[in-house]
Parts: sequence; structure tokens; C-alpha cells
Amino acid sequence: MQALLAAHFLPDLIPPEEFAGGTVVVIDVLRASTTICHALAAGARAVIPALEVDEARRIAAGLPSGEALLGGEREGLRIPGFDLGNSPSEFRPETVAGRTVVFTTTNGTRAMNRCRAAARVFIGAFVNLSAVCEILKPTESKPAQSIHMLCAGSRGRITREDVLFAGAVIDRLLRDGTVDETAQNDQARIARAAWQEACGGESPISAVRLAAELRNTQGGRNLKAIHLERDIDDAARIDLLRVVPELNLTAWRIVLAELNQKS
Ligand code: MLT
Repeated sequence: MQALLAAHFLPDLIPPEEFAGGTVVVIDVLRASTTICHALAAGARAVIPALEVDEARRIAAGLPSGEALLGGEREGLRIPGFDLGNSPSEFRPETVAGRTVVFTTTNGTRAMNRCRAAARVFIGAFVNLSAVCEILKPTESKPAQSIHMLCAGSRGRITREDVLFAGAVIDRLLRDGTVDETAQNDQARIARAAWQEACGGESPISAVRLAAELRNTQGGRNLKAIHLERDIDDAARIDLLRVVPELNLTAWRIVLAELNQKS
């Protein structure tokens, strides 16, 4: 049986050493985790998370000529001199295939930086919900580990969009028996209740309803303020992509994790 199924509503709410030996799912639905899924699904070779803008520029400059693309945001907007911002729709095959994206965002890449003690780190968003749930299931060759759903939040504040995704995964894992009710921490229970309330009895929830819920979150309001509402609709497309980005903690690059063969 699963050791623990925990949600953490902000990176600072858990000492990083508590991730040791566990599996962490980093969540920044609006928008970093959604965008990373799009980048790798569109054929990017890897995404390298960087904390600071200058660090991103340095990493990009160290890659072979023509390999790097700089992506990310500050205040939600593309960083001057960068090739790409943080909108999922910018990360198309014709732009990113075969390239390495060096990526820095305000909250998402910071959350990843807290996970260095973990055994495995995946990136989750509604666009890869089922694929994430699948990869979290223990198998004979991959025994159960503690699962941590780590919400990035926004500048030290809890954001509902990330909590909803944590709740969606937790709800699935409990319903299909991957984990036991007693394994949850309190934040996991709160996240699941928030998700169930957002679904309002719809099963599965429609993209339209989810987009409406995401608009009514801190991340949603931030995007509306900068006229990027389209990104909210893109983030609400449940299971659009059958990919699970995994942060390789040794190489410090995000690449696609191997999934079981399934349609
Ligand atoms: C972040 O990582 O802070 C977010 O993805 C912000 C954004 O919406 O660009």
C-alpha cells in the first residue's frame, strides 16, 4: 500500500528534505506545467528550467549553436530578447521540434528547484491528467513510493487552479484504488473536496466548465488582466496530450518519461 499521498499548496509549506525517496508532481496549471507539456509533445528535445533570466541566457549560450530557444515570462509576459513566452500555443512543432528550450518562469521553475531530494519529479497539468495518473500507479518493477502533489502557487500565495489539479489527480488515485483513503494528508483531502465541488457532479467535467472554473482563480485573473484568456482555454483541455514530462534531477533537464504502450 502507498506510503503517503500528500498535497502541498505552496513549495514553502514542506521542507524539501521530506521529498527524499518520493515522487513529486510539480503543478503550475497557469501556465508553466501546461506549457512544458506542449513543448515536449511538440518535439522539443528537452526543457531546462532556470531560476533567473540571466541564468537562462547563460545556459542557452553554452548550448551548441542553433540548439537553444529561450522561453518563459516575467509578470506573465515574454522576457525581452527571448524567443518564446509562456503561452502553450507558442510551443508548436515548427518552432520547437529538435530544440532545447531554456525556460524560466516566476513560480513554476522555482517549485521544481525545491524537488532536488526526490526520487522522481513529474510535471502535471490538466492537459496530461490521465497520463500523470497512469505513471503514478505502482507496478511490479516500480514499487509504491510516497506521492507529493506540489502546487507552485503565485508569489507565495496559494492558487486555486493548482489545488484543483492536485485534487483531480488525488480523486482518480483514490477512486481506482491506487492509494488508500488513510494515506492522505489534510491538504490532499482539501484539494479533493475543492475538485469535487468544481466538478459540480459532472463526470467527466467538460472543458467549458473547467475553463470557467480556471477563470475564477488567481492565475486566471492574472491572465485576463494581460489579455491572455486563450491560455486558460488551452489549459482546460483535459487529456489533450499523452505525455509526462520528467525532470531528470542529475542532468537537470525535463524530458519525456516512458509510458506504458496504450492507445
Ligand atoms: C509561473 O511559473 O509563474 C506561471 O506559469 C506564470 C504565468 O502564467 O506565466
